[in-house]
Amino acid sequence: MERMTLDYGEAALKGSLAVPGDKSISHRSVMFGSMAEGRTTVSGFLPGEDCLRTIDCFRSLGVRIDREGTDLIIDSPGIDGWKEPSEILYTGNSGTTTRLILGVLAGSRVHSVVTGDSSIAKRPMKRVTGPLALMGADIRGRDDARFTPLSVQGGPLRAIDYEMPVASAQVKSAVLFAALRAEGESVVREKEVSRDHTERMMQNFGIRIESEDGIIRLAGGQKPSAVHVDVPGDISSAAFFLAAAALVPGSRVELGNVGLNPTRTGMLDALEAMGADMEVDESGSADSEPRGTVTVRHSSLRGTEISGALIPRLIDEIPVIALLATQAEGTTVIRDAEELRVKETDRIAAVAEELGKLGADIEPAPDGMIIRGPVKLRGGSVDSRGDHRIGMMAAVAALITDGPVTLEDPDCIGISYPGFFEDLDSLRG
Ligand code: S3P
Repeated sequence: MERMTLDYGEAALKGSLAVPGDKSISHRSVMFGSMAEGRTTVSGFLPGEDCLRTIDCFRSLGVRIDREGTDLIIDSPGIDGWKEPSEILYTGNSGTTTRLILGVLAGSRVHSVVTGDSSIAKRPMKRVTGPLALMGADIRGRDDARFTPLSVQGGPLRAIDYEMPVASAQVKSAVLFAALRAEGESVVREKEVSRDHTERMMQNFGIRIESEDGIIRLAGGQKPSAVHVDVPGDISSAAFFLAAAALVPGSRVELGNVGLNPTRTGMLDALEAMGADMEVDESGSADSEPRGTVTVRHSSLRGTEISGALIPRLIDEIPVIALLATQAEGTTVIRDAEELRVKETDRIAAVAEELGKLGADIEPAPDGMIIRGPVKLRGGSVDSRGDHRIGMMAAVAALITDGPVTLEDPDCIGISYPGFFEDLDSLRG
């Protein structure tokens, strides 16, 4: 669909919902399941386009992956039994697939070529190919392996002691995947802790890994053992409905089985700081990933400051937090978020310009934005720019505009949230 008209009025959102599986954890379940010899099963998998790209890549490596809805059965000969792919591994729009798979392939026994879509072609890869080269990886590509397409000749690797220059779970995970295959003990040091799903899943797959105060230690040569992975709902998808409930008068939305890993719950901290009416009920965890129910009711909001160690804990939620801030009393300042410039789109420019078309007062900064509220938003035309989270931000904005919003390229929302509009409609009654 080229464009979609969203004419919502101000109908309250009511009811409960289970959002689809976590994107980060779904990718990793396929990667570990493919590295482990034997049968791994996955429930709650996210059948979004990004995660389906990951499945396709590992099928090309000779791993059998059967999917029925959100259930996967992965039968793998183990990483040492993979076949050399006869086609290019195509990662589509998925930065996570592209960066993590480089770390996996570097320590494999096969040669492969990795490439993605036009957005991936612009995203920085040196942050991954750099440390992997220090480990002895043979990765070549455009502009000295800064950009896709990249060719990887798998082979022996050496351990690394690596201090992360940016807070990035994708970089950290690529290094950890390679470290698992390297000779010796690797150390990864993080100044600001990014999402730790890779570390937690390594433990699930029987790998010994230590993590304390931002220092991770992993001995190479360990083999993952096939297990069952139960993927919780994605808090980054839940964020759009939590924001919608906070924004639309009369709303009350309850989201069950949402992942509550503390490295991902920055959005809940931001909602609290803005004065949202919210309850969080941690129900325990089926495995190492905590989960629970989050309920939000409409309330008035106030501006806040979002910076420092909070940024990696809510990096993907900043577009929808910016929308919340347009309706909050006072000024919201977002700083230390220059990473937004190199996401699926430049999300600082995209948020400021696209919400600006609806009348929002957002001043972009090199590393964030300043948002002044509250401002009554008007209808207008918004371009998702092919970025799923900009598309969902615009759809939530349409719930509070005083006229319809035309959304260009709504289909990209299927990258992380197939069924988003159906779920939104179900809450609108
Ligand atoms: C992800 C890490 C984050 C995040 C992305 C998913 C992951 O990216 O923005 O949506 O699954 O590791 P960075 O590592 O680039 O911060």
